[in-house]
Amino acid sequence: MNDVPAGPELAADGFAAAQPHGPIEELFDDVFIVHGSISLFSAGPDYSLNRNMVILRDGATGNGTGALTLIHSVRLDAAGEKALEALGDVKHVLRLGAMHGQDDAYYVNRYGAEFWCHANSPVYAEPATDHVLNAGCSLPVADATLFVFELPMAPETAMLLKRDGGLLITADSLQHHAAYTNCSPAMIERMKGAGFDLTTIVGPIWQQRLTPEGGTLKPDFDRLLALDFKHHISAHGALARGTAHALTEAAVAKAFQE
Ligand SMILES: [Fe+2]
Repeated sequence: MNDVPAGPELAADGFAAAQPHGPIEELFDDVFIVHGSISLFSAGPDYSLNRNMVILRDGATGNGTGALTLIHSVRLDAAGEKALEALGDVKHVLRLGAMHGQDDAYYVNRYGAEFWCHANSPVYAEPATDHVLNAGCSLPVADATLFVFELPMAPETAMLLKRDGGLLITADSLQHHAAYTNCSPAMIERMKGAGFDLTTIVGPIWQQRLTPEGGTLKPDFDRLLALDFKHHISAHGALARGTAHALTEAAVAKAFQE
């Protein structure tokens, strides 16, 4: 017997339904976050994990609205969607990591947003890519540059926002956890056993699955450490504010210790 559902619960519109999440919070000027969750149906019915959507606003006008870019999109409930629309117009959806994307097609369909994605995203085939992300590409966000991991066996990128001392936005490669918020008890036990410590970490499962046999991802992280950033937020966990670079140095040293 297998009582694990074959996929996420669907809403009446045919897209994955909203899952429990918190309110939209402002981290910096025109940088917002929603702490959400996702049921890991492939792991079993008792496994849900936190995930974050980062919302960047550009071109805010006198009424406080502007063009919104959603990173690691997370579908919101009706009240959350209303709050999102009060921030501005959803113009862009951007996928930084190949393991995220369950709700990207919903947002593109709902708002007619343009979709930015690496080539050959292996997990979520939809929506169709409008803009391919690669090193040196333009981005829909001011003061932003793209960092491309070259060594993992699935696409992974990060974004550096050159404001407020530098904000690094990652998907699964680098994560900062302050608590196991929005994680089910079974998930918390699994995370503790897998090395999801409550600090900045190289994503343990991501590293394990995406490192080529006999290889290492360390050169990519050495390049990442050459970036100038004080803050970091990923697709999971919490904001590392102020000390992110030092925490990343420690995470890389631990992940690649010999
Ligand atoms: Fe993830």
